[in-house]
Amino acid sequence: MTDRKMGLQDGLTQYGDAGFSLFLRKAFIKAMGYTDGVLDRPIVGIVNTYSGYNACHRNVPDMIAAIKRGVMLSGGLPIDFPVISMHESFSSPTSMYLRNLMAMDAEEMIRAQPMQSVVLIGGCDKTVPALLMGAASANIPAILTVTGPMSTGSHKGERLGACTDCRGFWGKYRAGNIDDKEIAEINGKLAPTAGTCMVMGTASTMALTAEALGIMLPGGAAIPAVHADRLRHAEETGSEAVKLAISGRSPREILTPDAFSNALRVLHAVGGSTNGLIHLTAIAGRLGIKIDLEAFDKMGRETPVLVDLKPSGQHYMEDLHRAGGLAPILRELRHLLKRDAITVSGKTVGQIIEETTFWDGQEIVRPISNPIYPEGGIRVLRGNLAPDSAIIKQSSASPKFHRHTGRAVVFTSLADLAARIDSEDLDVNPDDVLVLANAGPKGAPGMPEAGYIPIPRKLARQGVNDMVRISDARMSGTAYGSIVLHICPEGAAGGPIGLIRNGDMITLDLEAGRIEHNVSDHELAHRRAEWAPPVHSNCDRGYTKLFLDTVGQADTGCDFDFLMATTLSGTAPEAS
Ligand code: FES
Ligand code: MG
Repeated sequence: MTDRKMGLQDGLTQYGDAGFSLFLRKAFIKAMGYTDGVLDRPIVGIVNTYSGYNACHRNVPDMIAAIKRGVMLSGGLPIDFPVISMHESFSSPTSMYLRNLMAMDAEEMIRAQPMQSVVLIGGCDKTVPALLMGAASANIPAILTVTGPMSTGSHKGERLGACTDCRGFWGKYRAGNIDDKEIAEINGKLAPTAGTCMVMGTASTMALTAEALGIMLPGGAAIPAVHADRLRHAEETGSEAVKLAISGRSPREILTPDAFSNALRVLHAVGGSTNGLIHLTAIAGRLGIKIDLEAFDKMGRETPVLVDLKPSGQHYMEDLHRAGGLAPILRELRHLLKRDAITVSGKTVGQIIEETTFWDGQEIVRPISNPIYPEGGIRVLRGNLAPDSAIIKQSSASPKFHRHTGRAVVFTSLADLAARIDSEDLDVNPDDVLVLANAGPKGAPGMPEAGYIPIPRKLARQGVNDMVRISDARMSGTAYGSIVLHICPEGAAGGPIGLIRNGDMITLDLEAGRIEHNVSDHELAHRRAEWAPPVHSNCDRGYTKLFLDTVGQADTGCDFDFLMATTLSGTAPEAS
C-alpha cells in the first residue's frame, strides 16, 4: 500500500482552499447519484472510446459494463469518460493526422480528472497507440484492453476478412473479373460483426505488440470482439486496475526498453503491420526510449515470421485465438525474449510463458524450426533515396522484386496519382517502379495509407498484380505487395524522393537493404536547387497548423516534437 491519495482527493486543484475544492467536487459528483462512502474508494477511470461512427468499437459499452463489474467486485469505483474515438474509414484526412490529437486528449483528461488508475479501451488502428502515448505521458497506473477482432464473413464458401479481402476483391473488380452485382454482395459480407479488422492489420498488430509490451493482461489481444471471453478479459482487467490503483505501478515501470524489445520482436514474428513500427516508436518516444532501426533490422534477421495470418499467410485472428493467441508466439520466441520484463500484473514475461498451458498440433503459429518466412516481416532500407530510412514488408513482397532495377513513373501528389493512374495514356510497364512523393507526414498532410499504389488499370487488365512501388506514405497493414514505405525524410521536407523524375532508374535490393536513385550527384544538386516545398491551402491556423509545424518524420514515430520526452532514457531493441 502506498501513501497515494485515493478517491476524489487525487489531483485536487487548489485555489487557496483545498477543503472547499474537495467540497465542490463532492457536491457535483454526488449529482451522479453516488453516496459518500463510495467516493473514498480507489477510483478507476475507464476511457470510453465508443462512437456511432466506429464499428470497431461497437462493443465498448458491453466492455465498460464488464470492466465496471471487475472494478466494483475488487472494491474500486469505476468512472468512465469519453475521449476521441477514431475509425480508419471516418478519420479524414487520415487517422494518423488525428492520432496525436487523441493522444493529447487522453493524456490531459487522464491527468485532469481524479483517478488512481485507468483502463484504456483501444481497438481500431490508431486508438491503441494514441491511448498508450497519452497514458505513458500522464504516467498514472494504466492497463489496456482492446475491443478484439471481427469474426470472418463468407462468400460462396470462401472466408472473408476486412480488409485484405476488400482489396483482393476490389482488385478483381477493377480488372473486370467480378461484376457490379457480385462486388455489392461482397461489400455486405466483409465486416460481419463488431470488432477490428481480423487479418494481421494494424489493429491486430498493435493488440499483439501491446500485450507483448506487458501493458495488457495475458491472452487479451486475439479474443474475438463477440466472444464471452472478451467480456471476461474486460472484467479481469477492471479487477487488475484496482490492484494497480493501490500498488501505484506506473506505465514507466512496465514500458521499459526490454518491453519494447519484446514488442518489436513480436512485430517481426507476427508479420505485423508496418504502421506498428511507427506507433511503437511514438509510444517509446514519450518515455525517452529511442528505437534503433538498425538493431530492429538485425533483430529481423534472427526472428522468422511464425504466424500464418493474412495478408502474409492464410488465416484470421479468430484462428489465432483458438490457437492460444499471443502465448504460443511467446513460447516459440522465448529464447529471444527479455523474459525478466515486468508486466502490468507484476508477473514477468518468463513467468507468464511458464504458467500457460500449450498444446501441439495447431497450424496457425508455426514452430520456429518451420516458419512461414525465414526472416522478420519488416526490413529497414537505407540508400541515397532514404538517408534516414525506409521500410518494406518483405514477407509480402514478390520474390522476383527482391532485387530489381526499374524506370521511375512518378506521381508528385495524391491528386496527381488519382488523376493519372488509370489513364490509358500512362507510359508504364510491369517492370517500372511507381513513385509517389509528397504523401508523407507533412506532405499530404497526415501520411495517408496511399503507399499501396494501385496497379495501373491497363496493367491490371493484363494480369499484373504486383509492381515495385515506393513512397513517403504509409500502407494499411491489411495490404500487400512489393512496396517501399516511410521514406525519410519525406519529399515535402526536402527528402530525395521529391527529386525523382520520370525515367530515372531506381534500384531496390532487399538483400543489401538498399533503395537507390541511379542519378548523378551533380544532377541531383541541380534539381535540389530548383526544388520548392509543396504549398498547402488552409493550413495557417488551428490543428492543421499545429500538425504541420510540429509533426516529426516516420523514423521518430510522427509524434509532435513538443510531446516527446525531452531526455533520452534508453534504447530498444537491445542486444538479446
Ligand atoms: Fe478499424 Fe480496421 S477499420 S481496425
Ligand atoms: Mg488499417
